[in-house]
Formats: sequence, C-alpha cells, structure tokens
Amino acid sequence: MAALFTPFTLKDVTLRNRIAVPPMCQYTANDGFVNDWHQTHYASIARGGAGLVIVEATAVSPEGRITPGCTGLWNDAQVEGMAHIAARIKAAGSVAGIQIGHAGRKASANRPWEGDDHIPSDDAYGWDTIAPSAIAFGKNLPKVPKEMTLDDIARVKANFVDAARRALAAGFEWLELHFAHGYLGQSFFSPHSNKRTDQYGGDFAGRSRFLLETLEAVREVWPANLPLTARLGVIEYDGNDEQTVNESIELIRMMRQRGLDMLSVSVNFTIPDVNIPWGPAFLGPVAKRVRDEAGIPVASAWGFDGPHLAERAVADEQLDLVMVGRAHLANPHYPLEAAKELGIERPTWVLPAPYAHWLERYSMQK
Ligand SMILES: Cc1cc2nc3c(=O)[nH]c(=O)nc-3n(C[C@H](O)[C@H](O)[C@H](O)COP(=O)(O)O)c2cc1C
Repeated sequence: MAALFTPFTLKDVTLRNRIAVPPMCQYTANDGFVNDWHQTHYASIARGGAGLVIVEATAVSPEGRITPGCTGLWNDAQVEGMAHIAARIKAAGSVAGIQIGHAGRKASANRPWEGDDHIPSDDAYGWDTIAPSAIAFGKNLPKVPKEMTLDDIARVKANFVDAARRALAAGFEWLELHFAHGYLGQSFFSPHSNKRTDQYGGDFAGRSRFLLETLEAVREVWPANLPLTARLGVIEYDGNDEQTVNESIELIRMMRQRGLDMLSVSVNFTIPDVNIPWGPAFLGPVAKRVRDEAGIPVASAWGFDGPHLAERAVADEQLDLVMVGRAHLANPHYPLEAAKELGIERPTWVLPAPYAHWLERYSMQK
C-alpha cells in the first residue's frame, strides 16, 4: 500500500489517507456568510476522497477579512451555513477542518481577480486596518495600518476564542490558526512588521507573545480530544533564513508545550521583495527540519501535487500530511488520479462507495 493512502490519526480523529485540502479562499461570501457556491465547492472536493478538507481562512472579526468576499465566524448567525459545509464534508467521508484568522495590515483588499490591491478606507467596501506596528506591507498593499493598542490585542484574542467556539458548534473537528502569510499572527512574529517596544514586540519572547497567548486561549475552549493546528510561515527568503527558521522552530516547540497538535509549514510573505525558490515540493527540507527539531507532526503545501512527490514526502517521513490545493481545483477527484498513478490496486476505492462501486465494475468491464 502506498504511504499516501495510509490512515493518519491525530488525537481522536482519523483521516482515511494523508491527502489534505489546504484552506483556499473563495472570496465569494457576503458579509462573511457562506452561500451555495461554498456548499457545492466543499462538497465536491470532499467527495474526491481527501482525508481532510480545511475550509478557507475565515475571519474572526469583520476587519480581519482579507477581502469583502471572505467568510467569517464573528457572529452566531454565521454558524448555520458553516454547519452545512461541515456536514457535507463529513458525509463524503472526509474530516471537516477550518482555518480561522485575521488579515491584519493585508486586510481590506480587492479580490485577486479584481486587482488584489488595497481598497481605500473611504470606499464603501474598504475599511481601516490594524497591525502590531503602523507599517504598511507596500507594493499593492500600501495602506498604513493603525498600531494596535493593548485593548485591541485583547479584543482580537477574544475574537479568536469566540470564532473557535463557533467552529466547534458548526461541527468542525479540526481547527487551524492562521499565523502565516503576513497576516496578523505572522506580522506579530516578524521583526519586519513588528517594531513595538512593549511586551508584544522587541525580542523573541515579545514577538511570540500574541501567538502563544492566542493559542493558549483557544486551546481552553477547543476540546482536548480534537486536533488544534496552526499554519506558520517559518521562512521569509529574505537572506536571514537560518535565524528565521531557528526562531520559528523555537516558537513551534513552545506552541507544542501549550497544546498545539500539528504545524502546517509555510512561507512568511511578510515583505514583498523576496526570492522564493518556487519549484515542486520546495518546502520539503524545511518541513522535515521542523518535524525533527520541534518534535511535532507536520503538513505542507506548495507544489506537492505530483503523486510520486507526495508519496515520497510521506514515505520518507518528511511530511505527515500532504496539502494539495490547486490540483484539487483542477480536478476534485485528484486522489483517484494519484491512486492510479501510484499503481494502487483497485484505485477507485479511494472514492466514497456510491462512486467507487460503479467505477470498479466499469473498470473491470473495459
Ligand atoms: C485560491 C487560493 C486561495 C488560498 N487561500 C488560502 C487561505 O485561505 N489560507 C491559507 O493559509 N492559504 C491559502 N492559499 C494557499 C494554499 O493553501 C496553498 O498553500 C497553495 O495553493 C499552495 O499549494 P498547491 O501548490 O498545492 O496549490 C490559497 C491558495 C489559493 C490558490
């Protein structure tokens, strides 16, 4: 049996295989509410056979949305639609996960296909942004955020806790904190974006504080038997990479001690002009370092969709879970294609029975 198709258990949750669909914003919500697009999208992807489907970055407060079309869990009315999504994912045999986050200084942006740039605050669809320090990202996102007060920090932490409670009420069994990609959590940790002189900035301990306190507060309301994970950029590709990776691993160790169950290894994206070595599975070696040195299960994305690459990443114990994003948009039945390419006997059985039974008979008739 291919390693990619072995089950994976974390806490009380078992995935049917090691293929996970990472969070991918659909930018089609209204006031944070999901609609028919999301229901169809997540149901069809889950039917494809992945072990885990993580619903897109869902904002913990209105100003934490990346774009006006981002999903939210900042009020109780938003739970019902999310509950339908979680139920559809589970009905297809996947585990239902969700990523919650706050976009910080990258918030108030146009949808990617409408420019990907900041919407001015005086535009009907734009809003003021907040961040650890009043420093803009730059390039397409030039808006200068307001430096968060201690009250702002306390409020956003409470927003994370409330969103986690709502995710649980909606039936999700896997929660991921979005601390990556230059959004709020990542921007507290990065010295590029955090120039605070109080207890939430400065040295390693200060820059880690917001992430650790948020994790601890969420862990208190998220059941001990269900996985709590985080996505963190562990490398910026800004020429200071050894220090960033070392600091990130130290932070992940501290997060593990506070109840983190798994880390999704990603890129920082905190500053615009960096030299990312895009290529198939380029994050593999750094993910392996995190796994070995922080002593925690890891997942990663970015170009792991070649089935043999994905298989090798699991077989070589580089990754515990392989995140396959865009290849699922291209083909929601990606796991079937991967199973065929890996030469698995009766590959149709990676699909749920109502599909697998007929495809198996069909393949025997041919
Ligand atoms: C349409 C789209 C939306 C995305 N939205 C999110 C998101 O909500 N949260 C996140 O952490 N990453 C997001 N990402 C990054 C993906 O999770 C993933 O890391 C990326 O697609 C690389 O994996 P791949 O090469 O398998 O596609 C998004 C990517 C795409 C293509």
